[in-house]
Order: sequence, then C-alpha cells, then structure tokens
Amino acid sequence: MSDVTHITVIGAGTMGSGISLTAAMAGIKVCQVDVSQEQLDRAAAYHQKTLGRNVAKERMTQDEADAALGRIGYATETCMASESQFAIEAATENEDLKKKIFSQMVQTYSDTCILATNTSSISITSIADSVGDAADRVIGMHFFNPVPVMKLVEVIKCPATSQDTLDRTMTLSEAMGKTPIAANDHPGFVSNRVLMPMINEAFHAWNDGVAEPEAIDGIMKLGCAFPMGPLRLADLIGLDVCRDIMLVLHNGLGHPDKYQPCEKLVELVEAGRLGNKTGWGVYDYREAAATA
Ligand code: CAA
Repeated sequence: MSDVTHITVIGAGTMGSGISLTAAMAGIKVCQVDVSQEQLDRAAAYHQKTLGRNVAKERMTQDEADAALGRIGYATETCMASESQFAIEAATENEDLKKKIFSQMVQTYSDTCILATNTSSISITSIADSVGDAADRVIGMHFFNPVPVMKLVEVIKCPATSQDTLDRTMTLSEAMGKTPIAANDHPGFVSNRVLMPMINEAFHAWNDGVAEPEAIDGIMKLGCAFPMGPLRLADLIGLDVCRDIMLVLHNGLGHPDKYQPCEKLVELVEAGRLGNKTGWGVYDYREAAATA
C-alpha cells in the first residue's frame, strides 16, 4: 500500500501531462510544473477532455472527475515542494537539461523525496552521478504513451539506487494502476532496445521500396497482432524521439552499423515531420485535426 499523497511532475508535454492525470485519478495530489504557461494550458485542456470522456463513458461520475482535476495544481516554477514525496522529471530528452533539472530538484524537494526520471533512454547512472549524495534517491520511471492507457512502468535502477527507492517506486506505480517491471540501466533499457530497432527496420523496409507505410503497418498489425503498425507507432512516439533513441543505442552499444538511424527517419525529422505532435510524420494528420 502506497503512502504517497503528493507528487510533482516536471514537464507538461505528452508524457508529463499523462503522468499527472494518471496520478490524480489515483487520488494523489499533483503539482504539474512546466516553464511554459502555454504548455501548462495544453496539459490542463488534455486533463479536462480526458476526464470528460471518462464521465461520458460512465467510467466515473462528474464529482469524481472534478475531484481528480482539483488535485492538480499547475505552476511555472513549483508548488507543493515540501509535501512532494516523489518528483518525476518528464522534460525533453536532453541529458544536459535533465541534469540541470535534477540539480534544481535536489535543492527544491525534501531529502527523502524520490527523484525519478521518465527518460526513455538516457543513462540513469549518469544522472545519479550528477547529484552527489542524493544519488541513492535517483531512479528511472519509464511510462508509455498514452500514459492513462498503457499498463507498464519500466522501473530502471542504477548501481546507486537504494532498495528503499526501488521499493517505493514499485509501490507508487502500482498505486497509479500500473504494472511495474524492474530492469537495469543499460542503453535503451529493455523496451527501447527491442522496440526501436524494429521501428527503424520498418523505415528501412519503406526506404528500400519493400512496401508503402500502410502496407508495412497493415502487415505488422495483422501478422503480429500489434495494436498499431510500427510506422504509425513512430508517429505517436515522435520521430525525433525515435531517432534520438537509435542514436543512444548506436553510441552506447558499440555496433557501428546495427543501430544507425535509417536515413528515411532522419530525413523526415530534418524536414520537421515529427509525427502526431506536428500533425505530419509518416502519415499526414492535418486534415483530420482540422475537421475534429
Ligand atoms: N490519453 C488518454 N486516453 C487515450 C489516449 C490518450 N492520449 N489515446 C487513446 N486513449 C484512449 C481512448 O480514449 C480510448 O478510450 P475509450 O475506451 O474510452 O474509447 C482508448 O484509449 C482506445 O483509443 P482509440 O479508440 O482512439 O484507438 P485504439 O483502439 O486504436 O487505441 C491506442 C489507441 C491505445 C494508442 C492503441 O492503438 C495502442 O495501444 N497502441 C500502441 C501504443 C504503444 O505501443 N505505446 C507505447 C509506445 S513506446 C513508449 O511510449 C515509450 C518510449 O520510450 C518510446
């Protein structure tokens, strides 16, 4: 049984806003932080829309939805700093930025607060190394997109992570309705070590003219019982994120060719076609968004 009543989520993008909503729906008070007020407004709109949908589907009452929304505070700097038992960083996937945020987290939160990162591939060891004596409270808490729907939290421990930090993270994940599975800190952890090369290979299949995206996705959906094909999933994750994770595997695992991001993937990223978040990636969503 989790004793966690207050958490802070730093970063209000797709992942951060999903984490804060999931925690609030589980009865936890959340401070949702982002440096951008615009991003906080988008997160609040997403929270309202998703809760409204749950009410419409009779999964919760209007009072329960209002209570969940009432548990979330939105702040450009910080709120509930002294009460927060967990601070979960879900900012952009940039190691220097994450280290900077972690050094601020050490200053801001209590010396018992767990310092978690939702990174999909950045080394937890390297982040822990940057926070001195607080390293035993550093852990990876890797959620999956869309966070309210996906059941897994991949929990990443590094050599410095204490058993208490691991235990409390597993317990909080369960309290948020998730199934936590622990893994060790290694490039791509388990999920992206296995998933990203498959996505990258789908780009190669497209680039080599094996089939068009619809056919590649259709084959993998129907043939492997995936909920969505690898190229459509790449759009959901973000093509820039896919490219960056491939680079982490490429640089971290020491196979010069094996993990090189496919040139087709790189080309789309450089053209600004990043997937759902820009309205255009492998597929074009702009018309559908305009009529939604
Ligand atoms: N927030 C909240 N709920 C959402 C949502 C979101 N962003 N997106 C979809 N949902 C909900 C919908 O509201 C819907 O709920 P209802 O049952 O109330 O209708 C339900 O999920 C199903 O959605 P849809 O009917 O729109 O569409 P679908 O049946 O095709 O499912 C999907 C959509 C859940 C995304 C499904 O296609 C799926 O599971 N895809 C695979 C997702 C996946 O693999 N994610 C992991 C990516 S890897 C990652 O995140 C980690 C990393 O490091 C890269």
